[in-house]
Amino acid sequence: MSLARRHVVLGVSGGIACYKSCFLARRLTEAGATVDVVLTAAAAEFVRPVTFEALSGRPVLSSLWERGRALAHIDLAKDPDLVIVAPATANILARAAMGMADDLLTALLLARADRPVLAAPAMNDAMYANPATTANIKALAARGWHFIGPDIGALAEGPSERPGRMSEPDAIFAAAERLLAGNPANSKWSGKRVVVTAGPTREHLDPVRVITNPSSGRMGYALAEAARARGADVVLVTGPTELAPPAGLATTRVETTEEMQHALESLIPNADALIMSAAPADYRPKTHAAKKRPRTAGPLTVELEATPDILGSLERRKGMVVVGFALETGNGLAHARSKMQNKALDYVILNDATEPGAGFEVTTNRVTILGRNGKQVDLPLLSKRDVADRILDVVEEAL
Ligand SMILES: Cc1cc2nc3c(=O)[nH]c(=O)nc-3n(C[C@H](O)[C@H](O)[C@H](O)COP(=O)(O)O)c2cc1C
Repeated sequence: MSLARRHVVLGVSGGIACYKSCFLARRLTEAGATVDVVLTAAAAEFVRPVTFEALSGRPVLSSLWERGRALAHIDLAKDPDLVIVAPATANILARAAMGMADDLLTALLLARADRPVLAAPAMNDAMYANPATTANIKALAARGWHFIGPDIGALAEGPSERPGRMSEPDAIFAAAERLLAGNPANSKWSGKRVVVTAGPTREHLDPVRVITNPSSGRMGYALAEAARARGADVVLVTGPTELAPPAGLATTRVETTEEMQHALESLIPNADALIMSAAPADYRPKTHAAKKRPRTAGPLTVELEATPDILGSLERRKGMVVVGFALETGNGLAHARSKMQNKALDYVILNDATEPGAGFEVTTNRVTILGRNGKQVDLPLLSKRDVADRILDVVEEAL
């Protein structure tokens, strides 16, 4: 479902937006895809191949005539799961629409037209509005090409109120994921309203000191992206994290556990599924000093009180599927099962904070999925995005 272990050809043509494709190459590689970058001669004028080589970890191809790589256009076109053309210049769109094959990228696009193509046009707004470009895009779309953008916004030559600017790398990445997920309309998540919580919360002791925890938010962000890739209508409710919110995803930012509770109160009445992967603080200082407490020589005793029990207090929509997380430090199965019981969860995802590669602050996780129906799925150590997909694979049976 995700881009992990997928083979992507990233075709880069010669527009000023080439520099943004470096970020895209990196994003695809980080997601676990094998990325072969193909540059047109004009693209190589903007960004040198070595940049893409360093980002993708693979040789970059830019010529039909490279010694030792004859027939690369046929080889490469054999097995990619997806070809992305970003930026797609007016020129490459025209050449592809005409069926030309006068360089490696156009030859590759022609050689295996059965591979899905996602193009991100980027050009001067007048070039984009030109009927020749419109006709070329129409012809390619009729042959099955997928398009993202162009966006409205600043172009290299100045501000513009008309489309021309290439979509952001994150948005292209998300579109690639959606494409590879198959037709989201066929997914059980399609059109489902899903609320995902992520990250820690912070409880203030005074204006400059907080009680919090090291949750990175990565698990929740991965779940939100994975659910969206399956066609769900996702709202992410996130505590303070360093992660950029996924492009185009409805995001509500909160700081305290009580704020998270209030945000959920207004979202839950419409939700089909609630996935609570946040790590809200369970305790907060009983009093919140309006001014910074001065440091004194002696010890400081702070009285804590319990924060609101979010799951216990929410009025749930009938039939809403509720997934909770149990982060344990030993004796996990028993604790997770009783949490599922006490909080009336449909599923609980158990992870152990003491296990290497699992829990907070890391990009991987190893979890056990427990279902109220008695189900138990033990997953190996996987990237958080892969864990997210495996959780959704299980939870969808309850939708
Ligand atoms: C500085 C500069 C910026 C350019 N930016 C774009 C652009 O954003 N979009 C576009 O379609 N062409 C742009 N061009 C023109 C293309 O580079 C030119 O049409 C070239 O032939 C494209 O070749 P390719 O499609 O094989 O990469 C730009 C040219 C220059 C010199």
